[in-house]
Amino acid sequence: MDYLQIQGPTKLSGSVDISGAKNAALPLIAMTLLASNEVTINNLPNVVDIKTLIKLLSNLGATATLNKCSVKIDTCCLTNTKATYDIVKTMRASILVLGPLLSRFGHCEVSLPGGCAIGQRPIDLHLKALEQMGAEISIEAGYVLAKAPNGLKGAHIVFDKITVTGTANIVMAAALAKGKTIITNAALEPEVVQLCQVLKHAGIGIDGIGSSELTIYGTDGRLVEIEPFDIIPDRIEAGTYMCAAAITNSEVTINKIRPDHLEAVSAKLEQMGFTLVVKKDSITVKPSTKLKAVDIITQEFPAFPTDMQAQFLALCTQVQGVSIIEERLFENRFMHVSELQRLGADIKLKGNSATISGKQQLVGADVMATDLRASSALVLAAMVAEGTTNVHRIYHLDRGYVELEKKLQSLGANIKRLKE
Ligand code: EPZ
Repeated sequence: MDYLQIQGPTKLSGSVDISGAKNAALPLIAMTLLASNEVTINNLPNVVDIKTLIKLLSNLGATATLNKCSVKIDTCCLTNTKATYDIVKTMRASILVLGPLLSRFGHCEVSLPGGCAIGQRPIDLHLKALEQMGAEISIEAGYVLAKAPNGLKGAHIVFDKITVTGTANIVMAAALAKGKTIITNAALEPEVVQLCQVLKHAGIGIDGIGSSELTIYGTDGRLVEIEPFDIIPDRIEAGTYMCAAAITNSEVTINKIRPDHLEAVSAKLEQMGFTLVVKKDSITVKPSTKLKAVDIITQEFPAFPTDMQAQFLALCTQVQGVSIIEERLFENRFMHVSELQRLGADIKLKGNSATISGKQQLVGADVMATDLRASSALVLAAMVAEGTTNVHRIYHLDRGYVELEKKLQSLGANIKRLKE
Protein backbone atom coordinates (compact mmCIF):
# COMPACT_ATOMS: atom_id res chain seq x y z
CA MET A 1 0.00 0.00 0.00
CA ASP A 2 1.24 3.52 -0.78
CA TYR A 3 1.50 6.42 1.63
CA LEU A 4 2.49 10.06 1.30
CA GLN A 5 5.38 11.57 3.21
CA ILE A 6 5.27 15.34 3.60
CA GLN A 7 7.91 17.62 5.15
CA GLY A 8 6.65 20.89 6.54
CA PRO A 9 6.29 23.72 6.87
CA THR A 10 6.38 24.68 3.22
CA LYS A 11 5.59 27.61 0.92
CA LEU A 12 4.07 27.09 -2.51
CA SER A 13 4.35 29.13 -5.69
CA GLY A 14 3.46 28.92 -9.36
CA SER A 15 0.40 27.54 -11.10
CA VAL A 16 -1.49 24.28 -11.36
CA ASP A 17 -3.84 22.91 -14.03
CA ILE A 18 -7.09 21.38 -12.85
CA SER A 19 -8.36 18.10 -14.33
CA GLY A 20 -11.86 17.10 -15.41
CA ALA A 21 -14.44 16.63 -12.66
CA LYS A 22 -14.72 13.10 -11.28
CA ASN A 23 -18.29 13.70 -10.13
CA ALA A 24 -19.30 14.99 -13.57
CA ALA A 25 -17.51 12.15 -15.36
CA LEU A 26 -19.25 9.39 -13.38
CA PRO A 27 -22.86 10.14 -14.47
CA LEU A 28 -21.63 10.94 -17.99
CA ILE A 29 -19.98 7.52 -18.25
CA ALA A 30 -23.21 5.88 -17.02
CA MET A 31 -25.06 7.98 -19.62
CA THR A 32 -23.28 6.08 -22.43
CA LEU A 33 -25.81 3.33 -21.67
CA LEU A 34 -28.37 5.57 -23.43
CA ALA A 35 -26.30 5.95 -26.62
CA SER A 36 -26.69 4.23 -29.97
CA ASN A 37 -23.11 5.11 -30.92
CA GLU A 38 -19.60 4.87 -29.52
CA VAL A 39 -19.24 7.90 -27.22
CA THR A 40 -15.98 9.85 -26.86
CA ILE A 41 -15.44 11.59 -23.53
CA ASN A 42 -12.52 14.03 -23.27
CA ASN A 43 -10.85 15.81 -20.33
CA LEU A 44 -11.47 12.65 -18.32
CA PRO A 45 -9.75 12.59 -14.90
CA ASN A 46 -7.40 9.64 -14.71
CA VAL A 47 -8.48 8.45 -11.24
CA VAL A 48 -9.47 5.11 -9.75
CA ASP A 49 -13.24 5.82 -9.47
CA ILE A 50 -13.42 6.46 -13.21
CA LYS A 51 -11.61 3.20 -13.98
CA THR A 52 -13.98 1.39 -11.61
CA LEU A 53 -17.09 2.59 -13.44
CA ILE A 54 -15.55 1.79 -16.83
CA LYS A 55 -14.77 -1.70 -15.52
CA LEU A 56 -18.38 -2.07 -14.40
CA LEU A 57 -19.62 -1.15 -17.90
CA SER A 58 -17.08 -3.55 -19.45
CA ASN A 59 -18.39 -6.33 -17.21
CA LEU A 60 -21.87 -5.58 -18.56
CA GLY A 61 -20.54 -6.11 -22.10
CA ALA A 62 -19.57 -2.60 -23.20
CA THR A 63 -16.32 -2.01 -25.05
CA ALA A 64 -14.17 0.77 -23.65
CA THR A 65 -10.90 2.21 -24.92
CA LEU A 66 -9.29 4.24 -22.19
CA ASN A 67 -6.46 6.68 -22.90
CA LYS A 68 -4.81 8.99 -20.37
CA CYS A 69 -7.44 11.74 -20.54
CA SER A 70 -10.18 10.30 -22.74
CA VAL A 71 -12.32 7.25 -23.21
CA LYS A 72 -14.42 5.79 -26.02
CA ILE A 73 -17.32 3.69 -24.78
CA ASP A 74 -19.64 1.59 -26.91
CA THR A 75 -22.60 0.00 -25.13
CA CYS A 76 -24.44 -1.12 -28.29
CA CYS A 77 -23.83 -4.85 -27.77
CA LEU A 78 -24.51 -4.89 -24.07
CA THR A 79 -26.66 -7.79 -22.84
CA ASN A 80 -25.75 -8.28 -19.19
CA THR A 81 -27.72 -6.03 -16.82
CA LYS A 82 -26.31 -7.12 -13.47
CA ALA A 83 -23.97 -4.74 -11.62
CA THR A 84 -22.31 -7.05 -9.15
CA TYR A 85 -21.36 -6.50 -5.50
CA ASP A 86 -17.61 -6.87 -6.04
CA ILE A 87 -17.54 -3.58 -8.01
CA VAL A 88 -20.43 -1.66 -6.44
CA LYS A 89 -19.04 -2.18 -2.91
CA THR A 90 -15.87 -0.32 -3.91
CA MET A 91 -17.74 2.72 -5.27
CA ARG A 92 -21.21 3.95 -4.31
CA ALA A 93 -21.55 5.97 -7.51
CA SER A 94 -22.04 2.63 -9.32
CA ILE A 95 -25.71 3.14 -8.47
CA LEU A 96 -25.71 5.58 -11.41
CA VAL A 97 -26.20 2.65 -13.81
CA LEU A 98 -29.58 1.81 -12.26
CA GLY A 99 -31.66 4.47 -14.04
CA PRO A 100 -30.17 4.07 -17.54
CA LEU A 101 -30.08 0.25 -17.43
CA LEU A 102 -33.70 0.06 -16.34
CA SER A 103 -34.95 2.55 -18.90
CA ARG A 104 -33.06 0.85 -21.74
CA PHE A 105 -33.61 -2.84 -20.95
CA GLY A 106 -36.74 -2.84 -18.77
CA HIS A 107 -34.92 -4.81 -16.08
CA CYS A 108 -31.65 -4.84 -14.15
CA GLU A 109 -29.99 -5.93 -10.94
CA VAL A 110 -27.70 -3.56 -9.11
CA SER A 111 -26.00 -4.41 -5.83
CA LEU A 112 -26.93 -2.17 -2.91
CA PRO A 113 -23.91 0.06 -2.22
CA GLY A 114 -23.87 -0.55 1.57
CA GLY A 115 -22.26 1.60 4.26
CA CYS A 116 -19.85 4.45 3.82
CA ALA A 117 -17.30 6.35 5.92
CA ILE A 118 -19.13 9.68 5.68
CA GLY A 119 -22.65 8.62 6.60
CA GLN A 120 -25.52 6.26 5.84
CA ARG A 121 -26.09 7.46 2.30
CA PRO A 122 -29.32 5.61 1.49
CA ILE A 123 -30.71 5.33 -2.07
CA ASP A 124 -34.38 5.33 -1.07
CA LEU A 125 -35.10 8.49 -3.07
CA HIS A 126 -33.72 6.93 -6.28
CA LEU A 127 -35.89 3.83 -5.77
CA LYS A 128 -39.06 5.72 -4.84
CA ALA A 129 -38.76 7.89 -7.95
CA LEU A 130 -38.26 4.87 -10.23
CA GLU A 131 -41.33 3.21 -8.66
CA GLN A 132 -43.33 6.35 -9.44
CA MET A 133 -42.19 5.88 -13.06
CA GLY A 134 -43.70 2.39 -13.07
CA ALA A 135 -40.77 0.26 -11.92
CA GLU A 136 -41.32 -2.78 -9.72
CA ILE A 137 -38.51 -2.87 -7.22
CA SER A 138 -37.51 -5.46 -4.67
CA ILE A 139 -34.40 -6.01 -2.60
CA GLU A 140 -33.13 -9.57 -2.65
CA ALA A 141 -29.82 -10.92 -1.37
CA GLY A 142 -28.32 -7.45 -1.23
CA TYR A 143 -29.39 -6.52 -4.77
CA VAL A 144 -31.90 -4.02 -6.09
CA LEU A 145 -34.02 -6.00 -8.54
CA ALA A 146 -35.79 -3.57 -10.83
CA LYS A 147 -38.32 -4.39 -13.53
CA ALA A 148 -40.39 -2.27 -15.87
CA PRO A 149 -41.86 -4.83 -18.29
CA ASN A 150 -43.84 -2.17 -20.15
CA GLY A 151 -41.08 0.44 -19.99
CA LEU A 152 -40.76 3.40 -17.66
CA LYS A 153 -43.39 6.13 -17.86
CA GLY A 154 -42.96 9.82 -17.23
CA ALA A 155 -44.06 11.01 -13.78
CA HIS A 156 -43.89 14.01 -11.49
CA ILE A 157 -41.09 13.32 -9.02
CA VAL A 158 -40.80 15.56 -5.98
CA PHE A 159 -37.56 14.78 -4.17
CA ASP A 160 -37.94 15.08 -0.37
CA LYS A 161 -34.25 16.01 -0.22
CA ILE A 162 -31.91 17.35 -2.86
CA THR A 163 -29.86 14.42 -4.14
CA VAL A 164 -27.09 14.75 -6.72
CA THR A 165 -26.79 11.16 -7.98
CA GLY A 166 -30.54 10.71 -7.39
CA THR A 167 -31.30 13.56 -9.80
CA ALA A 168 -28.77 12.21 -12.33
CA ASN A 169 -30.25 8.71 -12.13
CA ILE A 170 -33.81 9.92 -12.70
CA VAL A 171 -32.77 12.28 -15.53
CA MET A 172 -31.21 9.27 -17.30
CA ALA A 173 -34.21 7.04 -16.56
CA ALA A 174 -36.56 9.75 -17.84
CA ALA A 175 -34.53 10.24 -21.04
CA LEU A 176 -35.74 6.92 -22.49
CA ALA A 177 -39.08 6.77 -20.64
CA LYS A 178 -42.46 7.23 -22.29
CA GLY A 179 -43.72 10.78 -21.92
CA LYS A 180 -42.84 13.71 -19.75
CA THR A 181 -41.05 13.55 -16.37
CA ILE A 182 -40.91 16.54 -14.05
CA ILE A 183 -38.30 16.55 -11.29
CA THR A 184 -39.06 19.05 -8.54
CA ASN A 185 -36.33 19.88 -6.00
CA ALA A 186 -33.68 18.72 -8.47
CA ALA A 187 -29.99 19.17 -7.66
CA LEU A 188 -28.39 22.30 -9.16
CA GLU A 189 -24.80 21.02 -9.02
CA PRO A 190 -22.75 21.82 -12.17
CA GLU A 191 -22.23 18.05 -12.62
CA VAL A 192 -26.00 17.53 -12.99
CA VAL A 193 -26.21 20.55 -15.30
CA GLN A 194 -23.57 19.09 -17.61
CA LEU A 195 -25.37 15.74 -17.78
CA CYS A 196 -28.57 17.54 -18.83
CA GLN A 197 -26.71 19.68 -21.37
CA VAL A 198 -25.06 16.69 -23.05
CA LEU A 199 -28.39 14.84 -23.22
CA LYS A 200 -30.13 17.92 -24.59
CA HIS A 201 -27.43 18.29 -27.23
CA ALA A 202 -28.10 14.65 -28.16
CA GLY A 203 -31.74 15.48 -28.83
CA ILE A 204 -33.51 14.76 -25.53
CA GLY A 205 -35.97 17.55 -24.71
CA ILE A 206 -35.01 18.97 -21.32
CA ASP A 207 -36.36 22.23 -19.90
CA GLY A 208 -35.22 24.03 -16.76
CA ILE A 209 -31.55 23.03 -16.91
CA GLY A 210 -29.74 24.64 -13.97
CA SER A 211 -32.99 25.21 -12.07
CA SER A 212 -34.60 23.14 -9.33
CA GLU A 213 -37.38 21.96 -11.66
CA LEU A 214 -36.38 19.83 -14.63
CA THR A 215 -38.77 18.64 -17.33
CA ILE A 216 -37.55 15.73 -19.44
CA TYR A 217 -39.33 14.47 -22.56
CA GLY A 218 -38.53 10.76 -22.92
CA THR A 219 -37.87 9.01 -26.24
CA ASP A 220 -39.93 5.89 -25.39
CA GLY A 221 -36.94 3.58 -25.64
CA ARG A 222 -35.12 5.14 -28.61
CA LEU A 223 -31.38 5.41 -27.99
CA VAL A 224 -29.67 8.71 -28.78
CA GLU A 225 -26.53 9.66 -30.67
CA ILE A 226 -24.04 11.44 -28.42
CA GLU A 227 -21.27 13.64 -29.87
CA PRO A 228 -17.79 13.86 -28.29
CA PHE A 229 -17.65 16.25 -25.35
CA ASP A 230 -15.24 17.52 -22.65
CA ILE A 231 -15.84 17.00 -18.94
CA ILE A 232 -16.14 20.26 -16.97
CA PRO A 233 -13.24 21.22 -14.65
CA ASP A 234 -13.24 19.68 -11.17
CA ARG A 235 -14.43 22.43 -8.81
CA ILE A 236 -13.49 20.39 -5.73
CA GLU A 237 -9.96 19.71 -6.97
CA ALA A 238 -9.70 23.45 -7.75
CA GLY A 239 -11.02 24.37 -4.30
CA THR A 240 -8.51 22.01 -2.70
CA TYR A 241 -5.58 23.78 -4.45
CA MET A 242 -7.06 27.15 -3.44
CA CYS A 243 -6.93 25.86 0.15
CA ALA A 244 -3.36 24.63 -0.42
CA ALA A 245 -2.36 28.18 -1.38
CA ALA A 246 -4.32 29.61 1.55
CA ILE A 247 -3.06 27.26 4.28
CA THR A 248 0.58 27.83 3.26
CA ASN A 249 -0.20 31.55 2.78
CA SER A 250 1.35 31.46 -0.70
CA GLU A 251 0.56 32.87 -4.13
CA VAL A 252 -0.74 30.17 -6.46
CA THR A 253 -2.71 30.38 -9.71
CA ILE A 254 -5.30 27.68 -10.31
CA ASN A 255 -5.81 27.26 -14.06
CA LYS A 256 -8.36 25.58 -16.35
CA ILE A 257 -11.30 26.13 -14.03
CA ARG A 258 -14.81 27.59 -14.02
CA PRO A 259 -14.67 30.38 -11.39
CA ASP A 260 -18.49 30.56 -11.46
CA HIS A 261 -18.57 27.02 -10.01
CA LEU A 262 -16.40 28.16 -7.09
CA GLU A 263 -18.22 31.25 -5.87
CA ALA A 264 -19.07 29.95 -2.36
CA VAL A 265 -15.49 28.72 -1.85
CA SER A 266 -13.99 31.97 -3.15
CA ALA A 267 -16.32 34.03 -0.97
CA LYS A 268 -15.19 32.16 2.17
CA LEU A 269 -11.50 32.68 1.34
CA GLU A 270 -12.13 36.40 0.78
CA GLN A 271 -14.04 36.56 4.06
CA MET A 272 -10.97 35.03 5.75
CA GLY A 273 -8.86 37.85 4.34
CA PHE A 274 -7.27 36.39 1.19
CA THR A 275 -7.23 38.39 -2.03
CA LEU A 276 -8.33 36.48 -5.12
CA VAL A 277 -7.64 37.55 -8.67
CA VAL A 278 -10.42 35.99 -10.71
CA LYS A 279 -10.06 35.68 -14.50
CA LYS A 280 -12.16 33.86 -17.11
CA ASP A 281 -10.67 30.43 -16.40
CA SER A 282 -8.28 30.93 -13.50
CA ILE A 283 -8.11 32.17 -9.92
CA THR A 284 -4.93 33.42 -8.21
CA VAL A 285 -4.90 33.20 -4.43
CA LYS A 286 -2.65 35.85 -2.84
CA PRO A 287 -1.15 35.62 0.65
CA SER A 288 -2.48 37.79 3.45
CA THR A 289 -1.14 39.12 6.74
CA LYS A 290 -4.56 39.71 8.26
CA LEU A 291 -6.60 36.52 8.47
CA LYS A 292 -9.76 36.00 10.46
CA ALA A 293 -11.88 33.09 11.59
CA VAL A 294 -15.08 32.23 9.67
CA ASP A 295 -18.30 30.29 10.14
CA ILE A 296 -19.23 27.76 7.46
CA ILE A 297 -22.39 25.76 6.83
CA THR A 298 -22.28 23.04 4.17
CA GLN A 299 -25.26 22.96 1.86
CA GLU A 300 -26.22 22.04 -1.68
CA PHE A 301 -24.91 24.03 -4.66
CA PRO A 302 -24.61 27.00 -5.04
CA ALA A 303 -23.93 27.17 -1.27
CA PHE A 304 -20.72 25.94 0.36
CA PRO A 305 -19.99 22.31 -0.69
CA THR A 306 -19.66 19.46 1.80
CA ASP A 307 -16.80 18.20 -0.41
CA MET A 308 -14.76 21.25 0.71
CA GLN A 309 -15.58 20.99 4.43
CA ALA A 310 -12.54 18.93 5.46
CA GLN A 311 -10.07 21.15 3.57
CA PHE A 312 -11.50 24.33 5.16
CA LEU A 313 -11.43 22.66 8.55
CA ALA A 314 -7.68 22.15 8.12
CA LEU A 315 -7.33 25.75 6.92
CA CYS A 316 -9.21 27.14 9.94
CA THR A 317 -6.55 25.66 12.27
CA GLN A 318 -4.13 28.24 10.79
CA VAL A 319 -6.33 31.29 11.29
CA GLN A 320 -6.42 33.32 14.50
CA GLY A 321 -9.74 33.01 16.33
CA VAL A 322 -12.63 30.57 16.60
CA SER A 323 -14.22 29.16 13.44
CA ILE A 324 -17.36 27.04 13.44
CA ILE A 325 -18.13 24.55 10.68
CA GLU A 326 -21.56 22.95 10.53
CA GLU A 327 -21.96 19.84 8.34
CA ARG A 328 -25.53 19.63 7.07
CA LEU A 329 -25.28 16.88 4.42
CA PHE A 330 -23.55 13.85 5.90
CA GLU A 331 -23.88 12.92 9.57
CA ASN A 332 -20.48 11.27 9.91
CA ARG A 333 -18.27 13.49 7.80
CA PHE A 334 -15.85 14.49 10.55
CA MET A 335 -13.54 11.46 10.61
CA HIS A 336 -10.60 13.74 9.73
CA VAL A 337 -11.03 15.66 13.00
CA SER A 338 -9.32 13.04 15.18
CA GLU A 339 -6.45 12.79 12.68
CA LEU A 340 -6.04 16.59 12.59
CA GLN A 341 -6.00 16.50 16.40
CA ARG A 342 -3.07 14.06 16.16
CA LEU A 343 -1.21 16.86 14.37
CA GLY A 344 -2.06 19.21 17.25
CA ALA A 345 -5.21 20.94 15.99
CA ASP A 346 -7.60 22.33 18.61
CA ILE A 347 -11.01 21.15 17.38
CA LYS A 348 -14.12 20.37 19.43
CA LEU A 349 -16.90 18.31 17.91
CA LYS A 350 -20.51 18.54 19.02
CA GLY A 351 -23.13 16.82 16.89
CA ASN A 352 -22.71 18.04 13.34
CA SER A 353 -20.67 21.07 14.32
CA ALA A 354 -16.90 21.52 14.68
CA THR A 355 -15.38 24.42 16.62
CA ILE A 356 -11.81 25.15 15.57
CA SER A 357 -9.57 27.38 17.69
CA GLY A 358 -6.62 28.84 15.82
CA LYS A 359 -3.93 29.52 15.18
CA GLN A 360 -2.22 26.28 16.23
CA GLN A 361 1.30 25.25 15.27
CA LEU A 362 0.78 21.74 13.92
CA VAL A 363 3.49 19.09 14.34
CA GLY A 364 4.06 16.20 11.92
CA ALA A 365 2.79 12.72 12.84
CA ASP A 366 1.47 9.51 11.28
CA VAL A 367 -2.15 9.97 10.23
CA MET A 368 -4.70 7.89 8.41
CA ALA A 369 -6.92 8.96 5.53
CA THR A 370 -10.57 7.99 6.03
CA ASP A 371 -12.29 9.24 2.89
CA LEU A 372 -11.40 11.14 -0.24
CA ARG A 373 -11.77 14.74 0.93
CA ALA A 374 -10.59 13.96 4.48
CA SER A 375 -7.37 12.67 2.91
CA SER A 376 -6.74 15.91 1.07
CA ALA A 377 -7.33 17.85 4.30
CA LEU A 378 -4.58 15.82 5.99
CA VAL A 379 -2.17 16.59 3.14
CA LEU A 380 -2.98 20.31 3.46
CA ALA A 381 -2.42 20.25 7.23
CA ALA A 382 0.84 18.31 6.76
CA MET A 383 2.22 21.11 4.57
CA VAL A 384 2.11 23.52 7.52
CA ALA A 385 3.02 21.02 10.25
CA GLU A 386 6.61 21.13 11.59
CA GLY A 387 8.54 18.02 10.57
CA THR A 388 7.43 14.82 8.87
CA THR A 389 3.85 13.69 8.38
CA ASN A 390 3.03 10.30 6.86
CA VAL A 391 -0.49 10.10 5.43
CA HIS A 392 -1.50 6.43 5.25
CA ARG A 393 -4.33 4.73 3.30
CA ILE A 394 -4.06 7.13 0.41
CA TYR A 395 -6.04 4.82 -1.86
CA HIS A 396 -8.90 7.17 -0.90
CA LEU A 397 -6.98 10.06 -2.51
CA ASP A 398 -6.26 8.08 -5.64
CA ARG A 399 -10.00 7.61 -6.15
CA GLY A 400 -10.53 11.27 -6.90
CA TYR A 401 -7.39 13.42 -7.25
CA VAL A 402 -5.28 13.27 -10.41
CA GLU A 403 -1.59 13.00 -9.45
CA LEU A 404 -2.00 15.05 -6.28
CA GLU A 405 1.59 14.67 -5.13
CA LYS A 406 3.01 15.54 -8.57
CA LYS A 407 0.88 18.67 -8.81
CA LEU A 408 1.89 19.73 -5.28
CA GLN A 409 5.57 18.97 -6.01
CA SER A 410 5.39 21.25 -9.04
CA LEU A 411 4.19 24.02 -6.68
CA GLY A 412 7.17 23.42 -4.40
CA ALA A 413 5.78 21.07 -1.75
CA ASN A 414 8.13 18.52 -0.22
CA ILE A 415 5.89 15.48 -0.74
CA LYS A 416 6.66 11.97 -1.92
CA ARG A 417 4.80 8.71 -2.45
CA LEU A 418 6.33 5.73 -0.64
CA LYS A 419 5.42 2.08 -0.11
CA GLU A 420 4.40 0.84 3.37
C1 EPZ B 1 -22.68 13.32 -4.43
O1 EPZ B 1 -22.99 12.19 -3.62
C2 EPZ B 1 -21.19 13.32 -4.60
N1 EPZ B 1 -20.79 12.09 -5.27
C3 EPZ B 1 -20.50 13.47 -3.24
O2 EPZ B 1 -19.10 13.57 -3.46
C4 EPZ B 1 -21.01 14.74 -2.58
O3 EPZ B 1 -20.46 14.81 -1.28
C5 EPZ B 1 -22.53 14.73 -2.49
O4 EPZ B 1 -23.10 14.52 -3.80
C6 EPZ B 1 -23.12 16.00 -1.95
O5 EPZ B 1 -22.71 17.09 -2.73
C7 EPZ B 1 -20.89 12.00 -6.58
O6 EPZ B 1 -21.30 12.91 -7.29
C8 EPZ B 1 -20.43 10.73 -7.19
P1 EPZ B 1 -26.62 13.05 -2.37
P2 EPZ B 1 -24.50 11.65 -3.55
O7 EPZ B 1 -27.50 11.97 -2.90
O8 EPZ B 1 -25.17 11.93 -4.82
C9 EPZ B 1 -29.36 11.99 1.40
C10 EPZ B 1 -16.82 13.04 -3.14
O9 EPZ B 1 -16.03 13.21 -2.17
N2 EPZ B 1 -30.02 11.00 0.53
O10 EPZ B 1 -26.73 14.38 -2.99
O11 EPZ B 1 -24.42 10.25 -3.08
C11 EPZ B 1 -27.90 11.64 1.68
O12 EPZ B 1 -27.78 10.69 2.72
C12 EPZ B 1 -18.24 12.57 -2.91
O13 EPZ B 1 -16.50 13.22 -4.31
C13 EPZ B 1 -31.07 10.27 1.02
O14 EPZ B 1 -31.47 10.41 2.18
O15 EPZ B 1 -25.10 12.56 -2.42
C14 EPZ B 1 -27.32 12.99 2.01
O16 EPZ B 1 -27.61 13.33 3.33
C15 EPZ B 1 -18.49 12.12 -1.50
N3 EPZ B 1 -31.67 9.34 0.20
C16 EPZ B 1 -28.10 13.94 1.08
O17 EPZ B 1 -29.28 13.23 0.72
C17 EPZ B 1 -31.26 9.16 -1.10
O18 EPZ B 1 -31.86 8.32 -1.79
C18 EPZ B 1 -27.36 14.33 -0.20
O19 EPZ B 1 -26.84 13.15 -0.82
C19 EPZ B 1 -30.20 9.91 -1.59
C20 EPZ B 1 -29.57 10.84 -0.76
